[in-house]
Amino acid sequence: MRTDSSPQTIYRKDYTAPAYLVETVELGFDLDPDRTVVANRITLRQNPASRSHDIVLHGEEIELVALRMNGKPLAPTEYQVDGSTLTIRKAPAKVVLEIETLCAPVQNTTLSGLYVSNGNFYTQCEAEGFRRITYFPDRPDVMAKYTVMLRADKAAYPVLLSNGNLIEEGELGDGRHYAKWEDPFKKPSYLFALVAARLVCQEERYTLQSGREVLLQVWVEEGNLDKTDYAMQSLKNSIRWDEERFGLELDLDRFMIVAVGDFNMGAMENKGLNIFNTKFVLANPRTATDIDYAGIEAVVGHEYFHNWTGNRVTCRDWFQLSLKEGLTVFRDQEFSADMIGTDSGRAVTRIDQVRTLRQAQFPEDAGPMSHPVRPDSFVEINNFYTVTVYEKGAEVVRMYQTLVGRDGFRKGMDLYFKRHDGQAVECDDFRAAMADANGRDLRQFERWYSQAGTPIVTARTRYDAVKRHFDIILSQRCPASAGQADKLPFHIPVAVGLLSASGKDLPLVLEGGKHAKGATTVVLELTEQEQIFRFRHVDERPTPSILRDFSAPVILEYDYTDDELLHLFSHDSDPVNRWEAGQRLAMERLLKLTAQVAAAGGSDANLKLDATFINAQRAVLTDETLDPAFRELALILPSEIIIAEQMDVVDPQAIHTARQFMRRTIGAALKPELLAQYHANQTPGAYSPDALSAGKRALKNLCLSYLMVAPDMAELKLAQQQFEKAGNMTDRSAALVSMIHSGAEAGPYLKNFYEDFESEALVIDKWFAMQAAAPTTDVAAVRKLMQHPAFTLKNPNRARSLIFNFTSNNPSQFHAADGSAYEFWAEFVIKLDAINPQVAARLARGMDRWRRYAPALQAKMKRALEKVAGRAKLSNDVLEVVTKALEN
Ligand code: TRP
Ligand code: ZN
Repeated sequence: MRTDSSPQTIYRKDYTAPAYLVETVELGFDLDPDRTVVANRITLRQNPASRSHDIVLHGEEIELVALRMNGKPLAPTEYQVDGSTLTIRKAPAKVVLEIETLCAPVQNTTLSGLYVSNGNFYTQCEAEGFRRITYFPDRPDVMAKYTVMLRADKAAYPVLLSNGNLIEEGELGDGRHYAKWEDPFKKPSYLFALVAARLVCQEERYTLQSGREVLLQVWVEEGNLDKTDYAMQSLKNSIRWDEERFGLELDLDRFMIVAVGDFNMGAMENKGLNIFNTKFVLANPRTATDIDYAGIEAVVGHEYFHNWTGNRVTCRDWFQLSLKEGLTVFRDQEFSADMIGTDSGRAVTRIDQVRTLRQAQFPEDAGPMSHPVRPDSFVEINNFYTVTVYEKGAEVVRMYQTLVGRDGFRKGMDLYFKRHDGQAVECDDFRAAMADANGRDLRQFERWYSQAGTPIVTARTRYDAVKRHFDIILSQRCPASAGQADKLPFHIPVAVGLLSASGKDLPLVLEGGKHAKGATTVVLELTEQEQIFRFRHVDERPTPSILRDFSAPVILEYDYTDDELLHLFSHDSDPVNRWEAGQRLAMERLLKLTAQVAAAGGSDANLKLDATFINAQRAVLTDETLDPAFRELALILPSEIIIAEQMDVVDPQAIHTARQFMRRTIGAALKPELLAQYHANQTPGAYSPDALSAGKRALKNLCLSYLMVAPDMAELKLAQQQFEKAGNMTDRSAALVSMIHSGAEAGPYLKNFYEDFESEALVIDKWFAMQAAAPTTDVAAVRKLMQHPAFTLKNPNRARSLIFNFTSNNPSQFHAADGSAYEFWAEFVIKLDAINPQVAARLARGMDRWRRYAPALQAKMKRALEKVAGRAKLSNDVLEVVTKALEN
């Protein structure tokens, strides 16, 4: 909690090297939920790169019991404690500190530091949680070797885990036991972890490509051992993939994953001891959906890949967070794509990434919390684990690969590790490795790290039939963002293809270009404010396909005609742009319909949807040459949030009405085709989460949702039967969601679902989530659900399932005209803040875009923000978010 009234802003430019480096850390834990004793012995030496002789340690919410330097107790006059730092001035060059502290894990509801979840001990140290365990220079550029002794009651905590290798274990008197762990690698404190728990594991010996054998374990609570197979399989796939794609081997003899039900984020890459939110470990066909399975694969991969990109090479300071996160997200994206293996499957994963960017990152980049991929300042670092740092950061890494090619990217990675293994470095070091390994000048590329905001690329074209030239004129601009008024041009790779009238890719001859003969996609490098690119030997006026594979995280403006979009939608060989053409066709119509609804006072009575659009949808739906997964994506209309981002003044009700009208109209017009595809894409037999089966289920369930917008008896029956006969959670939950959204009486099915899965926390989360996001659920219904005995604010997954799904995924109800949902938001930001500031601050972000709504709503949103901001006792986490939201 904040003690003084003005929180400190930390600036990247103020970085200074640590005065002391830590060589070894020996930690001893006497674990007790109410009173854990931590003994910490660290050897330090003065850093020659610093002139200071002041040892600065961080500590928070811990009680200092004893402090000795070089064997002698320090008197309180020999050090200063100031807020969360402890300073020993003018220390000798070599120092051994012995520090004893106390903490109360059971009281720790923040889930940062050492805490208790369902009776077990876990830690979460990133970003600054280690200081809640012991006094330490808790910054990522201080890397040390750790030895850890754990002591705890044996009956209550039979399993004692920490980083690295188990070197000793045994009994103590009075029912306690101990385990000693040693991590052979130097690491920053944020990668420390321990687990003391009653758990069981699935384990396996696995042989690396080098022939070395390693032990892999997935630890879970007893009843969950039937849900660990997919995480284990994903771990083995990750190990193999990193060997093959990047030549990176697992460097430990033992690698553990532990699942915990109370966790702030997805998972954490602690060295050798990854700790996961149960959501990203536990799955069997009965409890988990295809999306859950894909999430497990991605997150297991992500955390595993951090072992090299994050752990072996780490961040100099937290401003460099994207150095590890952007790169590791890119790696997990490539892993998931390679696991599918086909070009079309790869494209489907790419389309999903584009959707995430538009749904979450573009709004962030245009809002009050906008920040560069490498931020310049922060109040609370936990607020900067964002879609910008992660997803836009991954796009920035992907652009290197687009610019230097796959092999060039690998060369850059190799050089990065050759130069920086064992170091804490900056984003600039990664860029230098990419540039140097490929002999490229990537100085301008730095602006992707320093300038916030989504660049807008505008394209114009002209065709000269006599000279057979086709010119693409690209220009760029970037809107002002928080603290950054003027932007300099970015280095933007724009992948382009040209389609003939028959829909074929034309072979490209770019003037001055160096691409292979006969290439049908070339990457234009836009580096200036405006540039002309000329294609020669173009025999007919082509349809340009611009920004193929979404080659840069930008907004592309081009005046496509409907005919051109329809042409691309049915022929583009680039699946991402094919999908994109469909999204543009839909968006144009959605915006017009929304305006009409608003003009008609909310009524959809006179809306019309043109046959051209419906026919295009029909053609894709029934095109058996296309992957079901692609067809599903092509048929999903842009979300209400993405539509809102296109409007100057957002009218959430009108958007919802227009989009529902469009869905209802498509559902009615394509009824026979939807039914036929529903039946054609069944997946009988044993459940498998593979991409093809998952794609079929996705398409089939999309068909069902269209049929259920305004269902007749037969369609209701279809949903009910699917619910009753479903052999997996994907089909079961999709049927239930379609019933809830249709407004049909879903009560008995919800009850049945709840009773079937009462003991499965992750499924009960779904039960709350699907109700929270239904457009039929208003704030009063959410408040009623909060009275349910299974609801608790203390568990982040549960809080998110109900509260966040309502505030973020149910815009037409969240923005109810009376503002009652905004009051609800304020109430629960405040309540959550007292329990868990990190989770509360995420909820607080839900009001980011308040200035874009009609004045009447704006006023109510502002009042809610002010209510939160005006609280006397607020965490820095929430304070930063609401302050920035209210700032001009
Ligand atoms: N480094 C983690 C990841 O991306 C993120 C993370 C897990 C985290 N837990 C956290 C970040 C708590 C901040 C606070 O894989
Ligand atoms: Zn990560």
